[in-house]
Amino acid sequence: MSRAVDSPRVLNIADLRRLAKRRLPRAVFDYIDGGADAELTLRENCRVFDDVTFRPRNAVAIPRCDLRVSVLGSRLELPLLLGPVGSSRMFYPRGEEAAAHAAGAAGTAYVLSTLSGCRLEDVKAASSGPVWYQLYLVGGRDVGTAAIERARTAGFSALVVTIDTAVSGLRERDVRNGTKELLSGHPWTMLPFLPQFLARPRWLAGFLSDGGLMAFPNVVLPGEGPMAYADVAAALEQSTASWPDLRWIREVWKGPLVIKGVLTGDDARRALDEGAGAIVVSNHGGRQLDGVSATLRALPEVVTAANGQAEILLDGGIRRGSDIAKALCLGARAVLAGRAYAYGLGAGGEAGVARAIQILRADLVRILKLLGCASVAELDRSYLDVPSAWVADAPRRTSVGAG
Ligand code: GLV
Repeated sequence: MSRAVDSPRVLNIADLRRLAKRRLPRAVFDYIDGGADAELTLRENCRVFDDVTFRPRNAVAIPRCDLRVSVLGSRLELPLLLGPVGSSRMFYPRGEEAAAHAAGAAGTAYVLSTLSGCRLEDVKAASSGPVWYQLYLVGGRDVGTAAIERARTAGFSALVVTIDTAVSGLRERDVRNGTKELLSGHPWTMLPFLPQFLARPRWLAGFLSDGGLMAFPNVVLPGEGPMAYADVAAALEQSTASWPDLRWIREVWKGPLVIKGVLTGDDARRALDEGAGAIVVSNHGGRQLDGVSATLRALPEVVTAANGQAEILLDGGIRRGSDIAKALCLGARAVLAGRAYAYGLGAGGEAGVARAIQILRADLVRILKLLGCASVAELDRSYLDVPSAWVADAPRRTSVGAG
């Protein structure tokens, strides 16, 4: 582990965030850190974990904790996957490969975003663990079909379809930082926004040595080749997946399907009808529709609706192992972290990602021991006090398949 991200300098995810802010240009840091509109949901995703409190079983000796979990048939060493984060190659040279390598080394899965800078084959090869492909329909159906076929050939083990991008959320920080102007290609338009990059020479050296502005090598446009980098607002605009798309996607991809972006029981039931093996309770990290529920609050309704017919995962607001434990107590099989590891990547590349995973893992072991619970498979509602309004839709943990 690199000393730069070691204890006591880095004790928690907030420390990695601080280091990422110091190393990255403002536009890149804010792309990771920011959310949509007033960032209500972004904040609420984190805050809501304070609303539920633990009920420990004390005087219980737990010499060893079992963190292992099976997700879509893969055995993971801990109930934490690295979720899809677009443009990771802007955070650190070959960022997606670095993050996938760290995930594999920790015995967990990495989910590659369509809007990534590294070739999907290289990302798969970088990890010794499972890698999933997250599909956006940017470029259209034929481009999506070709990407799915490439992902299958490369050995990706699940396809994730994100359903909350009818348009892009308004990420005000990105607008203010000149993301659009910086990609205009017109020097005079770009000029006012360039000093933020010159202020981060270490990042700039890495960025230039990695080839400068990334393209999207997994979005191959017929007759054109890899799609040029576009700001995320423009890319998401063309990325919408609707329920009818699930039909043809199902014909092209026969493997495990994950539907990400579910916040209601109705959408959960629809996802089951479309053949989802796993559902991610997600509001896109507060980056899309601002003002929706925090994901932890939406989780019980989705767990009830899925009724054990799909594995339930959750993303949004995961900054500590206690957050993972609370989500599992409320019925999630595992969680996905996005920003938590992206801060690590921005702070120190693969070492930063590895440190983020190590922090969350150590937290989780400590929390289990303090709860008097020997394994993540045993976490359930009885370890939590939940606000009474949540109780109606918060059943005891449902088990799906092998745990
Ligand atoms: C990409 O999916 C983003 O939310 O920026």
